[in-house]
Amino acid sequence: MNIGLNLGVNLGVNLGVNIVDENQTAAADAITGENLKAWRGSILHFLSDPDAADANAVHNSYQYFCDGLLVTQSGRVAALGNATDLLPRLSAGTALTHYRNALIVPGFIDTHIHYPQTEMIAAYGEQLLQWLQTYTFPVERKFENAEYAATTAAFFLRQLLCNGTTTALVFGSVHPQSVEAFFNAAEAQNLRMICGKVMMDRNAPDYLIDTPQSAYSDSEALIAKWHRRGRLQYAVTPRFAPTSSAEQLRLAGQLLREHADVYLHTHLAENLDEVAWVKTLFPGCKHYLDSYDQFGLLGRRSVFAHGIHLCDDEYRRLGASRSALAFCPTSNLFLGSGLFNLKRAQQYRINVGLGTDVGGGTSFSLLQTLNEAYKVQQLRGDTLTPFKAFYLATLGGARALDLDHCIGNFAAGKEADFTVLDYRATELLAMRMEQCKSLQERLFVLAMLGDDRAVKATYIMGEQLK
Ligand code: GUN
Ligand code: ZN
Repeated sequence: MNIGLNLGVNLGVNLGVNIVDENQTAAADAITGENLKAWRGSILHFLSDPDAADANAVHNSYQYFCDGLLVTQSGRVAALGNATDLLPRLSAGTALTHYRNALIVPGFIDTHIHYPQTEMIAAYGEQLLQWLQTYTFPVERKFENAEYAATTAAFFLRQLLCNGTTTALVFGSVHPQSVEAFFNAAEAQNLRMICGKVMMDRNAPDYLIDTPQSAYSDSEALIAKWHRRGRLQYAVTPRFAPTSSAEQLRLAGQLLREHADVYLHTHLAENLDEVAWVKTLFPGCKHYLDSYDQFGLLGRRSVFAHGIHLCDDEYRRLGASRSALAFCPTSNLFLGSGLFNLKRAQQYRINVGLGTDVGGGTSFSLLQTLNEAYKVQQLRGDTLTPFKAFYLATLGGARALDLDHCIGNFAAGKEADFTVLDYRATELLAMRMEQCKSLQERLFVLAMLGDDRAVKATYIMGEQLK
């Protein structure tokens, strides 16, 4: 690429894309080239986990530019720095958008959500197992119809973008056509999304079950067609241990071995009745996680939603296998499932991302998810700092999904998916922000009072989609 610029940040990360011409970097100061765009405003992104053990962890974990400039070239980050430093170097005529009273952050990452459950969000009165029978299964049946699936997928993606979410790990339904519809809709907008067909061959209504063999071959065909097509990736998706036979889980493991970089996405230890049920269904297993582990389902690209009721050995195995947990506070409170132990997950060095878990979760907004994540930690007697909260919603999510080489912050070369948060989106926000004396305070207020109204714009690869 012809972009002879001295990058505003050199983060020393593996960027996957080399956009710097070695010969020009040292000499040239100008930011020139084709397809440049720039945004001016307050900009925040993370370089590491603010809760890491070293003394300067918080200070070193983020970069904040009060009057910053983000420059992209052909949809990737080209430069980031202070506006006063970068603007004079920017080639004349570069499209420049200035956001005042706003904060530009990397796009939010939702590490666990069900698109077929969009229409049943906020269904009254049940805990997990009864909620599945009463509301979830009948709704998921509708995704047999490809047209219905396409309409819902388009609606769902609009909700994500309205809420500033640019990447998600998504459950389809048991029907392969639900995943086709989802990927078609995501591809049309060039979104970075991960999805998979639910595998479930028992303990569900007849109209919704597959077989070990059909789940294997349907998943295999979807992987062949969609995995790594553009920005899309596939997740092998057994619903949870109670709805898969041992043979189906074995074949899920086989899919992971045969397609080394696909994801594994499932639920784990969300509800106490569910945990007790797994014990009876898999009597030979040491614990819930073992029902997955014995079939080779743990690993760097495995994401387990919830993980509330875990023993020490399960935390240890999750950490050792570099698996991730999706912390889904709005769902965990709504379904009365329990309080996620973030501190414990951290002690065992488990990758943690945030999940909305719609329709068990009650909001598409990662800001609202942070709101309830904070309250869950309060109830545990622990804390969730504002910096950690925004880290989890961005770089932490990218790490949980093993995607931090291409999204999650504004390191040079990364895909320019970002969100503009409006400090004055509502009268109350504007009034409360007036009282804030620090970035930390403003972040906390955004998380407590913000929702889709606070998302002024969402950009995908440098193109505005909201
Ligand atoms: N466990 C199994 N299926 C589901 C689901 O659809 N939602 C939630 N929250 N938990 C589950
Ligand atoms: Zn879920």
